Amino acid sequence: MTKNAIEVNNLTKKFKDFTAVDNLYLTVKEGEIFGFLGPNGAGKSTTIRMLCTLAQPTSGSAKVAGYDLIKDSAKIRQNIGLVAEKMIMYDRLTAAENLRFFGKLYSIPKQRLEERINELFQLVDMQEWKNTQINKFSTGMKQRINVIRALLPEPKILFMDEPTLGLDPQTTFSIRDITRQINQDGVTVILTTHAMTEAEALSDRVAIIDHGKIAALDTPENLKNMISQGDANVFGTKISNLTSELVNKIKSMDVVTAVAQQDDYNLKISAQGENALNEIIDTIRDEGGNIASVTNSNESTLEDVFLAVTGKQMRDQATEKATPVHHRHGPAPKARVR
Ligand SMILES: Nc1ncnc2c1ncn2[C@@H]1O[C@H](COP(=O)(O)OP(=O)(O)OP(=O)(O)O)[C@@H](O)[C@H]1O
Ligand SMILES: [Mg+2]
Repeated sequence: MTKNAIEVNNLTKKFKDFTAVDNLYLTVKEGEIFGFLGPNGAGKSTTIRMLCTLAQPTSGSAKVAGYDLIKDSAKIRQNIGLVAEKMIMYDRLTAAENLRFFGKLYSIPKQRLEERINELFQLVDMQEWKNTQINKFSTGMKQRINVIRALLPEPKILFMDEPTLGLDPQTTFSIRDITRQINQDGVTVILTTHAMTEAEALSDRVAIIDHGKIAALDTPENLKNMISQGDANVFGTKISNLTSELVNKIKSMDVVTAVAQQDDYNLKISAQGENALNEIIDTIRDEGGNIASVTNSNESTLEDVFLAVTGKQMRDQATEKATPVHHRHGPAPKARVR
């Protein structure tokens, strides 16, 4: 039987009146790569910080590596590594000097530390950069050092908060490869991201988190299947004379659970019911809309899942407060899973 690396029970974090993490329940199995996918402010980092014992939960409990979050926080710290949102690195020191410095903080014996540092430079294929000052490194190289720094004490569980944020595609791929390698070496990985492709490429299971709550949790495959199988559906329409009135009209339809406007012409519409597509097309025509194309692909993406379960598009998040996005007031979509 697989053991659980992490068990979260009813975990809540409030900042004054604001609930950043709201009654979170989940388990992460040993050996998994588990993705937290959610928009800015969803509560991803706050959850990670609590599980790493860096922030006190307001209520609830959790076990990390078998230890109680509150009672055994010191034990937890011995079993985890954290690649935080912000890199911590001394620019004037070489890469190896940085690692030695952190290795000493972990009280790793000198000889073992040197061995470990060599192993880790190999892991990220940066042996020739060992004795170069960090300030000569590109962001991607720094991030690789930042990742192996967290691996120094040989953690059982590695937390990575937005490990590829702001990196170019090539470096992103390399960090993903390294993450897979780390996982194959037996480390359970919990990562946060707001990139669908990242969650999909890396995770065995994904929790879609929004406003501190889990909206859906499953394998990327199952998450995508659930919206193409159920009577929930997401499709794209291109309307050559799209107006905000028309968008609002579509949003107000009973069968429509969410609408995301992608540009001047394209909408992604999440809807429910067998006849939803026909009803929507009729409405668009009745309102004078010129439909240039409708795509109802069987290949849904995690982006579609996110839209279906949260009623929002990932990209919208930065402007969410400025332009309120439609939320259906009726029953929750059937596709919703736990
Ligand atoms: N120390 C704090 N004091 C007050 N509010 C906070 C604090 N830390 C986080 N928050 C709020 O809690 C919410 C969740 O923040 P969190 O950093 O966990 O989000 P996130 O999902 O990691 O987002 P991002 O993608 O931007 O990193 C946000 O609305 C944030 O403003
Ligand atoms: Mg964050």
